[in-house]
Amino acid sequence: MKVLGIESSCDETAAAVVIDGKTICSSIVATQIPFHEEYRGVVPEIASRKHTEWILPVVEKALNEAGETIQTIDGIAVTNRPGLMGSLLVGLTFGKALAWSAQKPFIAVNHMLGHLYAAHLEQDIPYPYLGLLVSGGHAIICKVYGFDSIEVLGATIDDAPGEAFDKVAKFYNFGYPGGVIIDRLAKNGNPKAANFPMPVLHEEGRRYDVSYSGLKTAVINQIDRFWNPEFEKTPENIAAAFQSRAVKILMRAIKRAIEDTGLTTLVAGGGVAANSLLREQLAAEKNLKCIFPPLKYCTDNAAMIAGLGYHYLKRGEYSELNCPASARVEGFKKKPR
Ligand code: KG4
Ligand code: ZN
Repeated sequence: MKVLGIESSCDETAAAVVIDGKTICSSIVATQIPFHEEYRGVVPEIASRKHTEWILPVVEKALNEAGETIQTIDGIAVTNRPGLMGSLLVGLTFGKALAWSAQKPFIAVNHMLGHLYAAHLEQDIPYPYLGLLVSGGHAIICKVYGFDSIEVLGATIDDAPGEAFDKVAKFYNFGYPGGVIIDRLAKNGNPKAANFPMPVLHEEGRRYDVSYSGLKTAVINQIDRFWNPEFEKTPENIAAAFQSRAVKILMRAIKRAIEDTGLTTLVAGGGVAANSLLREQLAAEKNLKCIFPPLKYCTDNAAMIAGLGYHYLKRGEYSELNCPASARVEGFKKKPR
């Protein structure tokens, strides 16, 4: 079954053709980085407009590269949640119109389940396992029972880790996009240059939760308070000290989840899963098999959407053409108590 995937939830316009949820025939990602760079963050209105401009050529390119036409495609899978509303609506409306006009099955899928599926594109991974979804909008630690069946154990109670990377990079003028730049700078810095605080999450039901607003505030507004005077305040040292703390926050929650669930496989996904320190520390965990998607499938792409969509379509599950876009997904974010 050949599935066309469409993804436009944030600032990448993407389309892909994937066969049977595994074989990637094409994966086109048109990045909008140059258009958001001067604002050092995603500007939703610019993102929506670029999606509108690019969606047709990107889908055409994905079909051409795969040697397919819309007639030879068996189904269309599109991200409809969570994400920026204006961005989501462009891909979703386009996908619906295409499915309707070509009389093809249509399925709307969850972007975060897509991130989790990214690792499955290149290999078969048996369920259950521990899932780690870390991106610009989310941090989710979950038990995964199937492609559409997860039990959220922990989540961020405030900011997502990717957001903290992006805001720190923005404040210190490191460049855009922040995550990958901090990752690179940190390689030449010393993580001991500052001792930023760990969030205190002692309450019941918070064992696997994470928090990033305290770290973000400490790095941006209170750096002198936590800085080790033996070190110079270079971008490399700031990046290394921040990143080591950011990763430690995730690792604490993950280690608890491994210990309590007894699960021995962890599958990571989302843009922050591209972080080299996080990958290194997870890989060093004893008795844990860590599976990461290749870097280009960690960040937003449509191959993961087409791959995930295949499994719904195979089960005969379709979405109605009036299904809505949704900026948020219930249960993926925890509210502070
Ligand atoms: O999954 P993604 O492409 O989009 C969302 O669904 O949010 O994730 C984007 C996030 C951004 O915050 C970006 O700074 C972060 O992933 N990111 C990284 C790295 N590469 C991307 N964060 C840390 N280290 C990286 N190497
Ligand atoms: Zn994403």
